[in-house]
Amino acid sequence: MKENDAVKQHRRGFLRLAGAVAGTFALGALPFPAGAAAEKRKIGIVGSGRIGGTLGRLWVKAGHEVMFSSLDINHDTALAASIGPGARAGTPRDAAAFGEVLLMAVPYSALPQIGKDLADLVKGKVVLDACNPIVSRDGEIATWAREKGAGLASAELLPGARIVRAFNAINYAKLPELAQRQGGRTGMPLAGDDANAIAVASSLVRDIGLEPVVVGPLAKGRYLIPGTPLAGEHTPEQIRQISATLN
Ligand SMILES: NC(=O)c1ccc[n+]([C@@H]2O[C@H](COP(=O)([O-])OP(=O)(O)OC[C@H]3O[C@@H](n4cnc5c(N)ncnc54)[C@H](OP(=O)(O)O)[C@@H]3O)[C@@H](O)[C@H]2O)c1
Repeated sequence: MKENDAVKQHRRGFLRLAGAVAGTFALGALPFPAGAAAEKRKIGIVGSGRIGGTLGRLWVKAGHEVMFSSLDINHDTALAASIGPGARAGTPRDAAAFGEVLLMAVPYSALPQIGKDLADLVKGKVVLDACNPIVSRDGEIATWAREKGAGLASAELLPGARIVRAFNAINYAKLPELAQRQGGRTGMPLAGDDANAIAVASSLVRDIGLEPVVVGPLAKGRYLIPGTPLAGEHTPEQIRQISATLN
């Protein structure tokens, strides 16, 4: 296929995706207040540190069930106990089996091994990918992922997962405050290729009081990392405007 044809086909694919997502939103995306989940879900969290722990706590508050996992079951057990009913702890395999939706929230350098260890469990599942390739922290794998684009790289490391890049570049410490904010919601840029996965991700973003903004297919996930114009706090409209300037 010529490069132009490939680009056109890719664009057509994304337009179909955008249409499907818009349809989903039209049917089911009335703005829910934070703290009132539209649909109760089981969420498996791999990486229960700053961002994974914070999101898990907010999702339980919104009515979801969460299982935390990391390399330290004692930490996860204590974290779950501090949140109460709705939160539990397990191994990464337990969490991946428990969740109908998974959140990956680990240093990028951990993803290759996690992809192997959980290969049978992530296949076909909606996986929210919060992991950022940071060269100073993650080394060579981060250089590779940044060149390939973070979304496509994660898809290669987690084969068969229905990946949506999400929660990548708003500091974890701001999320509880943003979740409570009255008035205009802060936008959360999302990128993915699977319309249903994006609809699930969008509802989980709304459940914690933010407004999902789909910026494009997974390839556009390359911009959903710290240090790009989309990083940080923006209104949904600002995200749409910035996103339009990025190819
Ligand atoms: N901090 C933020 O505000 C923020 C915002 C958006 C995205 N992110 C991205 O999200 C990811 C996590 O960041 P963080 O700040 O939350 O880091 P963190 O506080 O250091 O937490 C990392 C978590 O990953 C776990 N982990 C590491 N290797 C693992 C493995 N092989 N299997 C299972 N769990 C493993 C750690 O467990 P142990 O403690 O047991 O090692 C810990 O629970 C990074 O890629 C980061 O760039 C961070």
